[in-house]
Amino acid sequence: MTSDTIEPESITITINGEEYEREVEPRRLLSDFIREDVGLTGTHVGCEHGACGTCNVLMDGQTVRSCLTFAVQADGAEIETVESLGTVDDMHPIQEAFHENHGLQCGFCTPGMLLSTKELLEENPDPDREAIKEALGANVCRCTGYAPIIESVEAAAERIQAPAEAEGEELSTAGDD
Ligand code: FES
Ligand code: FES
Repeated sequence: MTSDTIEPESITITINGEEYEREVEPRRLLSDFIREDVGLTGTHVGCEHGACGTCNVLMDGQTVRSCLTFAVQADGAEIETVESLGTVDDMHPIQEAFHENHGLQCGFCTPGMLLSTKELLEENPDPDREAIKEALGANVCRCTGYAPIIESVEAAAERIQAPAEAEGEELSTAGDD
């Protein structure tokens, strides 16, 4: 005789630097874990079958579709959601760039766009347009027409690089004395 009971599993996931230990059914989706079990609703869920990228989060630095990932697959992993970036009063340079370049309208796709951008700029701090299109090619936006999003990513790259360049100039000036 077989039993239909699905035994919960104990998992520990670090989200935005905080550890969450929970009992979950093996079929619990990471998106539901993040939104419902942990209460971080910045991660949006659109298509629920891997097509739109809205639910993207970073898992150990790489984007994953949280609607296609089981929470048990993230056991022991470090997850970053959009809440890790910044706040209204203290925005991350990527958020500032999207804000200033109209990289969003309704904002539904934006959490996934921001995290895909973060992954891209960590791997390639100075991407050309083709690299940006490739990196964001699996993120769907129904509002902006994409041009402002691409411009936002270019602006974000400049913003992130600017302090590093300024620091480099300071060092070279100091070396002139
Ligand atoms: S909601 Fe996950 S890819 Fe669309
Ligand atoms: S800003 Fe509305 S879906 Fe992208």
